[in-house]
Amino acid sequence: MIKDDIEKIMLDEAVLKETVKTIGAQITADYAGKEIVLVCILKGSVIFTADLARAINLPLTIDFMVASSYGNGTSTTGNVKILKDLDQDVEGKHVIVVEDIIDSGVTLNYLLHNIKNRRPASLKLCTLLSKPERRKVEVVVDYMGREVPDYFLVGYGLDYAEKYRNLPFVGILKPEIYQS
Ligand code: IMP
Ligand code: MG
Repeated sequence: MIKDDIEKIMLDEAVLKETVKTIGAQITADYAGKEIVLVCILKGSVIFTADLARAINLPLTIDFMVASSYGNGTSTTGNVKILKDLDQDVEGKHVIVVEDIIDSGVTLNYLLHNIKNRRPASLKLCTLLSKPERRKVEVVVDYMGREVPDYFLVGYGLDYAEKYRNLPFVGILKPEIYQS
């Protein structure tokens, strides 16, 4: 059972559901009368984006970006590259970047500058989770789910070595899993 690799549940299904609903309502209110482009940063944000999109009661499109990731490690190398770019031109559009978790902020900082150069009408950042104590570069978060302490987390899209994304909650991975 993949659940056996979890030390402790950090955000259970009910909390996640409530968090997504709250952010969706905020976005719906803030963008009334507008059309949005949700930019899902693959792969970690895919489950959050799927739920968030359904919690927003406005016309929107969803696009995807892949940034180079941690590989199989548990912390960033600081070297960001775009491996898959957006399909659409976002010039003049209202863009919300959807991220699973902000750790050092290095990935987001790079991606936000990159998208800003394409002249969107507006650009905001939405993240499900944030580890503020780990920040190396400042990123302004417009929509924030929960701040979490510095544990390596998996589930609800978050992976370790590509696994555990399908857990319906966010939990702390047992250190012996990534230390072995
Ligand atoms: P940053 O550039 O250091 O902010 O890295 C952010 C990315 O690292 C996130 O989008 C996640 O994909 C990954 N990440 C950061 N912390 C965790 C974690 O605790 N578990 C799983 N992935 C994480
Ligand atoms: Mg990610």
